[in-house]
Amino acid sequence: MPTEKKEDKIILRFENVSKLYNYETHSLRNLNLTVEQGEFLFICGRTGSGKSTFLRLITRELSPTSGKIFFDGEEITAMKHRDIPYLRRKIGVIRQNGEIFLEERTVAQNLEFVMRATGHEEDTLRQRALKALSMVGLGKKADCLPRELSGGERKRVEIARALVNNPRIIIADEPTASLDRDLSWDIMSLFEDINQLGVTLIIVTHDKEIVNIMRKRVVTFAHGKLLGDVKRGRYGDLL
Ligand SMILES: Nc1ncnc2c1ncn2[C@@H]1O[C@H](COP(=O)(O)OP(=O)(O)O)[C@@H](O)[C@H]1O
Ligand SMILES: [Mg+2]
Repeated sequence: MPTEKKEDKIILRFENVSKLYNYETHSLRNLNLTVEQGEFLFICGRTGSGKSTFLRLITRELSPTSGKIFFDGEEITAMKHRDIPYLRRKIGVIRQNGEIFLEERTVAQNLEFVMRATGHEEDTLRQRALKALSMVGLGKKADCLPRELSGGERKRVEIARALVNNPRIIIADEPTASLDRDLSWDIMSLFEDINQLGVTLIIVTHDKEIVNIMRKRVVTFAHGKLLGDVKRGRYGDLL
């Protein structure tokens, strides 16, 4: 039996990536970073340090000014525009300011809408939506309207929405910023469960308590540079 090469386990690699939005500001500078399938990373750093830029490079919402990015064995910086939807199907995204829901459609229909947009077979949509909702503990809310949900439940729907395409990786930009302590912990334990299924998690957060208790890999940015990358790290050791 051939042994598995280490390369096969790499899901994401940044090779000397820099991003300048204009000629003065380096939003990311010479970033080298490798993430293996199944890892759980927290991305930390002050406002303006480049965290959101990093996430938006992974989905090719942005392209780097220089350097290369590989995702799931492909160089996404060289990918043709028409292939970008296939890349995005493999990545579940949870955005900083929450998702916009179709308020007149049920929770399940909202998920079906996302899948339709990424080209799934019509007859599988309802079943896939229900599966994703049950994964986040909202199986019974499938036929509710978004306005009938609490803040924590809406966040769970966002996570279900990120899960519907069976992504290899989930990236989340400050997913607990608007939630209280208990709900933040509920969401983090949900992320742990998802990670246990083998999904790679990359989560931007300012939540010191969560980072310090969970002790995951902590990647810290400062002024666009990689300041630290610590296994079982803590928040702010380096800030
Ligand atoms: N669209 C943009 N145009 C110009 N500058 C930007 C843009 N987006 C971000 N920046 C700048 O890039 C740097 C990093 O921003 P960002 O990645 O949003 O940081 P963070 O998410 O860590 O707060 C900041 O200096 C910010 O002002
Ligand atoms: Mg940000």
